[in-house]
Amino acid sequence: MATVEKEAWVEAAWQRTIAKIGRNATEIGARFPHASFDGVYNSCPAHDWGAGFWPGMLWLAYRETGGELLKKTAVELETRLGETLVAYDELHHDVGFMFSLSSVAQYKLLGDPAARRHGLMAANLLAGRFNVNGGFIRAWPDWDGEDHSGWAIIDCIMNLPLLYWASEELGDPRYKHIAMRHADMALREFLRPDGSAYHIVCFDPETGARSGALAGQGFAADSAWARGTAWALYGFALSYRYTAQERYLDAAKRAAHYFLSRLPADKAPYWDFLLQDSTGMPRDTSAAAIAASGMLEIALYADPADARFFRSAAADVVRSLDENYGAWEQKEQGLLLHATGYFAKDSNVDVPIIYGDYFFAEALMKLRGGNDLFW
Ligand code: GLY
Repeated sequence: MATVEKEAWVEAAWQRTIAKIGRNATEIGARFPHASFDGVYNSCPAHDWGAGFWPGMLWLAYRETGGELLKKTAVELETRLGETLVAYDELHHDVGFMFSLSSVAQYKLLGDPAARRHGLMAANLLAGRFNVNGGFIRAWPDWDGEDHSGWAIIDCIMNLPLLYWASEELGDPRYKHIAMRHADMALREFLRPDGSAYHIVCFDPETGARSGALAGQGFAADSAWARGTAWALYGFALSYRYTAQERYLDAAKRAAHYFLSRLPADKAPYWDFLLQDSTGMPRDTSAAAIAASGMLEIALYADPADARFFRSAAADVVRSLDENYGAWEQKEQGLLLHATGYFAKDSNVDVPIIYGDYFFAEALMKLRGGNDLFW
């Protein structure tokens, strides 16, 4: 346990990461970066699901360096995220991603009561999406005229920590109850026996009966979207962190074994694990970074042999990302090259994406021995 975080490559990668976040604080500033093209991050609106990752990176770096610009930029972004709660219309299940890494982080680091209120309001919004009969948190609004009232997605499991946090913060178990109902549904309906996961599962929104599954961002309904597997792995581990229920840790380990067993030699998965032919297909380094941080989470709670296994596997993934996919020598704002957002829609394919960068930084923080999460 003690040796990995002391390794020189971890420290060197962490210092490179902190330096780049510092540089980006000047170049990107108080925008919401999403994907990088020709070395420059584009911007997404404050209500985008990915809007929390840049503030999250700023807070990770601020905790290390105490840099005033990092704090000032993150605080400005949090204010703008808070405004989306009143604007409301575009928000959905991903308020956990958005507000855990911005408002909850700011509250944890600065004790800011306004940021705490934003986190709690977001938790209420998330809890309000719970379908009681189906036991699931509803995904997305009805985009493009499509009825999503009975849809749940695997990514949503990463939003549950906002509910667990709200329960702890308020001394009120209702939010945790909803989170556990959703996690149990995901265990039953999403995670397959082999550890892979569906992306979208559909239910009758009235009765809660399951009606089918959809490919979503994966190759096919019964394939294994790489990032979906990573969300499952890390999401179940975080549910264990808050509840100590063994079934969640077992689920996280099952997903992790699947993830590891399908990796190519350089540890960066193709965007789906079950592509008929991966020749020429893009990787998704974001999935690798998420899975690495998730495996480091599993390692905190597993028995000593499993903990060694997952910690070592995670370190191998992060080291390969650093050596083979780190954009260190280039004029590139992204940290990790070759992430893939949504292949079927040709959206953000084979480019740096902000959540890949966030989870890479978070995994390095864990490899150095840091366990205080904003989640
Ligand atoms: N939550 C959306 C994604 O992983 O792309």
